[in-house]
Amino acid sequence: MKKISIIGTGYVGLVTGVSLAALGNSVVCVGRQESKAKDINHGKSPYYEPGLDSLIKDMVKKKRLTATTDFDMAVANSDITILAVGTPTINNKIDLTAIKEATRQIANVLKNKKIYHVVAVKSTVVPGATENIVKPLLPSGVGLCMNPEFLREGNAVEDALHPDRIVIGQLNEKSGRVFSEIYKKNTCPKIFTSLKTAELIKYTSNALFAALISFSNEIARISQKTGVDVVNVWDAVHLDNRLAPVVNGKRIRPGFISYLYSGPGFGGSCFPKDTKAFRAYAQSIGENAQVIDSVIKINDSQPLQTIALLQKELKSLKGKKIAVLGFSFKPDTDDIRESPALTIISELIRLKAHVIAHDPVAKLPDGTIFKQVTVAPSVSKALEKADGVIVVTSWQDYKKLTPDDFKSKMKQAIVVDARRIYDKNTFVKAGIRYSGIGYENEN
Ligand code: UDX
Repeated sequence: MKKISIIGTGYVGLVTGVSLAALGNSVVCVGRQESKAKDINHGKSPYYEPGLDSLIKDMVKKKRLTATTDFDMAVANSDITILAVGTPTINNKIDLTAIKEATRQIANVLKNKKIYHVVAVKSTVVPGATENIVKPLLPSGVGLCMNPEFLREGNAVEDALHPDRIVIGQLNEKSGRVFSEIYKKNTCPKIFTSLKTAELIKYTSNALFAALISFSNEIARISQKTGVDVVNVWDAVHLDNRLAPVVNGKRIRPGFISYLYSGPGFGGSCFPKDTKAFRAYAQSIGENAQVIDSVIKINDSQPLQTIALLQKELKSLKGKKIAVLGFSFKPDTDDIRESPALTIISELIRLKAHVIAHDPVAKLPDGTIFKQVTVAPSVSKALEKADGVIVVTSWQDYKKLTPDDFKSKMKQAIVVDARRIYDKNTFVKAGIRYSGIGYENEN
């Protein structure tokens, strides 16, 4: 068992902390907000994430997890400190201010500490940052690792408890050996690398999946213009054994192809910011990053594809009542960061539509644009007398909707399915004017 302090009670810090406690470590989460620390100590999650609340409760009860605002005390009383602070992009470049500030404060505590201590960077940072920015700020003799996270929101607890691999970038053999003890109970492959290799693995992973999504969205646009339904294309392409290999009659790693589905574009706290930071990094070392650049460009315009489909049916959207189902960037999370829904809603408002929006969990941000949106308490209220609907997030509640749910409420049953969650033929047969990403209604 290791004593771990985690700097940052954001999403990554908290999920990492609670899962490391579940793996038998003693964890203290350090944040700035007193109220958040209080919530965690009362067994309550500040975020909506399946399974997080109950695991926090359990770990707090077992006294393996606490939260505090006392940074220095937490670092002094632990063997390992994990940095999980935010690394946002400013002007499309990574901003390492929070990393630097936290490292300075850790260094200040560690300069008086005699026992060996390892600092590990969990935040996503550009290659070279741990070695060139974090290391020089720490006292000599402190162990240093870079341990990227691969958590998917909505599935984060499961991903943290049962990762497919653990990547540990190490300054030297001792740092990696001591740090890896926190994952003693995990049986998955553990990959020990240099610090910058670990950093590059994280960006490559995110860029690959983002590229698959933008590629699938480019194919959706081509399909649409060709008069082909992209779902029929992917249904056949996805069965290629090279994408989802079959071993002993069983298809393995079906999850891989889950990133080759066309939709309104990727959002969330990672792909949009990390692809931009990665592009800036590549350019700073003289590489154009043409693929990554195209991935970003396709994604920036992808949400607007849904508006074009609606305009095809309704011509002008001015004064039309348009329902938008889903604000979160994907289901099972209340996270709206970079959600395509926000771009779609802003554009609808710009085109002077009257927007009625619904989400089972997420809330719209403040601001003049979103003040003009009516938030509906239920799906049926959102659909009432609507001239059209865009289904943006594939929440289970929306997947269950039948043609009749739309027809009975809407003024005109015009459905734009941004996630292709409905059976096109059933909807068309039932008299719905159905279109979606990668399929245009020809009438
Ligand atoms: C991602 C990475 O998957 C994870 O490894 C990393 O640690 C953080 O970033 P997350 O942002 O939680 O995780 O969500 P993910 O499930 O990967 O989806 C990202 C976006 O891509 C969502 O907006 C989703 O709707 C979209 N997406 C995904 C598609 O549009 N099509 C797909 O086929 C798959």
